[in-house]
Amino acid sequence: MNKSILGLDKTKSANLVYSLNGLLANFQIYYQNLRGLHWNIKGKNFFELHVKFEEFYTDSQVKVDDIAERILTLQGKPLHTFTDYIKRHSVPVGKDISNDVEGVELVVNSLSELLKIEREILNFQMKQMMKEQIL
Ligand SMILES: [Fe+2]
Repeated sequence: MNKSILGLDKTKSANLVYSLNGLLANFQIYYQNLRGLHWNIKGKNFFELHVKFEEFYTDSQVKVDDIAERILTLQGKPLHTFTDYIKRHSVPVGKDISNDVEGVELVVNSLSELLKIEREILNFQMKQMMKEQIL
């Protein structure tokens, strides 16, 4: 087995880095969606949503950094350009959304996709760990 200086299987680490970069790309799109919503939202719920979108993008920013630093720990290189993010994303991109219902729907749909991606990564890792315990 080809191991890194941390004692991790290099192939498995590279696969996980690839998956985490996908998650990172999607969080960056989600973050930018929230910025757009924070700036453009209109209507009777403006004050509540303006603040809530800021709370969400601040939280997202922390998660982006956590994911990137995890990739670095695995000796990978975190994606850091919008060109790469656009290639890897599956969360919807929200453009010029000012309607409150549409804005909240974008957030819900984005979170749903992020959860799906996270579950896929966790399930894959769990299966690998179970295989290793059997062997
Ligand atoms: Fe602001």
